[in-house]
Amino acid sequence: MQKLIEYRYQKALHHQLMKAADHSMLGIDVLVLIYHFAKVAEGDILEIGSFVGGSTIAAGLGARDSGRRKKIISIELGGRLKDHRLATRDIFKDLKKNLSRAGLLDAVTLINGSSFEERTITAVREIAGPGQIGLFIFDADSNVRRDIDCYGDKLAQGCWMVIDDYFSATEKGGPTRIQVDDLVSAGRLQPLGFYGWGTWIGRWLGSAIIFFYMQAASTESLMTLSWVGGVDI
Ligand SMILES: C[S@@+](CC[C@H](N)C(=O)[O-])C[C@H]1O[C@@H](n2cnc3c(N)ncnc32)[C@H](O)[C@@H]1O
Repeated sequence: MQKLIEYRYQKALHHQLMKAADHSMLGIDVLVLIYHFAKVAEGDILEIGSFVGGSTIAAGLGARDSGRRKKIISIELGGRLKDHRLATRDIFKDLKKNLSRAGLLDAVTLINGSSFEERTITAVREIAGPGQIGLFIFDADSNVRRDIDCYGDKLAQGCWMVIDDYFSATEKGGPTRIQVDDLVSAGRLQPLGFYGWGTWIGRWLGSAIIFFYMQAASTESLMTLSWVGGVDI
């Protein structure tokens, strides 16, 4: 929190993040956190649901300020949005325009498609190797579990996870909360907290493993044999 407040007093940065917030459906504190994680996290960044680029710009600014080379992959379905303060006739076109204005178009690999279609999965696999993603941002629909199943092997142990709509007035809220809570209970996600009135933030702990223990004792030799193993779930 201290770090986040310090960013508030860096005038140029605060101005850039406030401009990103103008294009974003996420709360400003979530954008500042995305900036922070993109700056400090080891590894690359995978975003699902960029819309017109608010969160993508926050991640791009953080990666730039990290002083390290980080790949940013952002997946957006595209289309139009009506009857909304951020209404647009062409989401993907505005995404490119906003990234370009922020000087970040070349810093981001944009994929125009659905996160779970084969073409997108193949494209992400070509860019990011196993365990290379250090920040995962999901702000798309109500099925974060589906995309964690698609890209879980790309996430580093301890990868920062930003999952929107844990609390939401839309129909996304219920399923998202159930999926996140299940992953927390299974020991695969570790919560940090809730930001921006509905965004869940935490860390990826990796695949859950159930350990089993078997013992066989031979009465004749009084020798005990034990096996310990694990299965991925
Ligand atoms: C809530 S908006 C994202 C807001 C954005 N993160 C921001 O900072 O304003 C959700 C976006 O996800 C996109 N989307 C929904 N399902 C998707 C999917 N499965 N794959 C890729 N994009 C998806 C929608 O087209 C929409 O633009």
